[in-house]
Amino acid sequence: MAEEVILGYLQNHDEISDSGQFATDHGLDHSDVVNVIKSLHGFRYVDAQDIKRETDVLTEEGEKYAEQGSPEVQLFLAVPAEGSILKEELQKLVDPAVFKIGCSQAAKNKWVQMGNQISRKVQHVEDRIKDLLLQIRDGQEIDTGDKKSLKARKLIAVHTRLVSLVVLVFTTCDLCSRTWKGYSVRKGPDYAPIRRRTATDLTREYLQGGDWRNIEFKEYNFSAKGPPPEAFIAHKFIFTRLEVWVKERLKDIFRLMNFEEMPTNRYVESSFWNFDALFQPQQHPARDSHDTFFLKAPETTKQLPEDYVELVKRVHESGGYGSRGYGYDWKREEANKNLLRTHTTAISSRMLYAVAQLAKQQSFTPKRYFSIDRVFRNEAVDRTHLAEFHQIEGLVCDRGLTLGHLIGVLQDFFSRLGMDKLKFKPAYNPYTEPSMEIFSYHKGLGKWVEIGNSGMFRPEMLRPMGFSEDVNVIAWGLSLERPTMILYGIDNIRELFGHKVDLALVKRNPLCLIGIQ
Ligand code: PHE
Repeated sequence: MAEEVILGYLQNHDEISDSGQFATDHGLDHSDVVNVIKSLHGFRYVDAQDIKRETDVLTEEGEKYAEQGSPEVQLFLAVPAEGSILKEELQKLVDPAVFKIGCSQAAKNKWVQMGNQISRKVQHVEDRIKDLLLQIRDGQEIDTGDKKSLKARKLIAVHTRLVSLVVLVFTTCDLCSRTWKGYSVRKGPDYAPIRRRTATDLTREYLQGGDWRNIEFKEYNFSAKGPPPEAFIAHKFIFTRLEVWVKERLKDIFRLMNFEEMPTNRYVESSFWNFDALFQPQQHPARDSHDTFFLKAPETTKQLPEDYVELVKRVHESGGYGSRGYGYDWKREEANKNLLRTHTTAISSRMLYAVAQLAKQQSFTPKRYFSIDRVFRNEAVDRTHLAEFHQIEGLVCDRGLTLGHLIGVLQDFFSRLGMDKLKFKPAYNPYTEPSMEIFSYHKGLGKWVEIGNSGMFRPEMLRPMGFSEDVNVIAWGLSLERPTMILYGIDNIRELFGHKVDLALVKRNPLCLIGIQ
């Protein structure tokens, strides 16, 4: 279909200047058009030139809100549904930057009553900003007015230039800006309005039917190279095994560092272990169905350790152990909801609870634990995000641990992975304090790239489990895909798994060579 349209069009026109526009004008799918163009180009029916267009990209701040929700919604959710909250109290619940922007936007939207005491004016709000940012990240067009306001808030950077490939290839990198790719097309040296069908083999039917007289045979290519057989086998082996293989290497690293593996054989988790036990408030945007896959059946968990649940409820509502808690009405129904675990920290919380219980009965034994397994987030799938991915998580539970220990362990761990240039940036997690984002220097991109998140678990998480005050836990988590992408120069997450896997990857990378042995 697309082929006839393209060849037919070129019969009367000099050029298809933009395959994207052409696809829209003719009601065709752009990826079909691109595939046909590639094939016609290969057979010299057409000459095709790449064109790339930069599309809007989210700024770092925009990315953050796309993940965590807009500041106004984050702020709104931190304001109790009933009654009011002191401004100073509210300030403690949210990130300082979020607080400032959140207050002014939420007041502008007439969502909250500002003053010394802050209260809600409406009961429910929609996160339009987050939705718009997700649409842009998805490559969708949005209303120009909306675009303007996102630009004014510096949440997106707008480029609409049409640029030729030659210029662009040296000036942008796929990880930092999003590019749309298409073709401009002209007639090629072997152009014909209808593709000639060429036969590759002389068959019995051709001979018997006499068709062999009229059929055009494909020329034999004597200089074509066949695939080297042994390399081909290795490719096949590796790309189906890449995920397993990287996992095994990481497990080796952890084991060399004396870490024990945690049992991760449960994709379905209760909100309790995934969030509540981690002191993540029930209004937190990550607990929204926009971010988390909740289960319909079975909708709720059957069993939770009741005494512990009571302590978790108390720490959320009114604090304890030197904390004021969040000061909201903790609801059991929220904690009961089943979900697909959003992080492997859910496993860590279960394990730590078990360690604390054992410590109560016997004596406390320091532990080093790790896990590598699948987690799920309700995200728009694009080149750097998947709705499911693998997380690597490590933790050390011992007396008297400090941030220095955490930095030391991270440096040890990452240097064993081949990433020895690390930087840390203060961050926020509901369950860790202090928290640090981990950055690694990417030689290819020539910049620092975020590779993980870490911190010291809060007393609000550890003390209700039953740990004594002197026991600390340092922990970190990262996606398996991120360091693999950085280490092996893959810029699109979908190239790692599935049909887009690049076979040449195997040849280029030392990882694969060791893998064959
Ligand atoms: N759970 C965090 C995430 O999903 C990672 C993390 C683990 C952060 C442990 C701090 C401590 O990104």
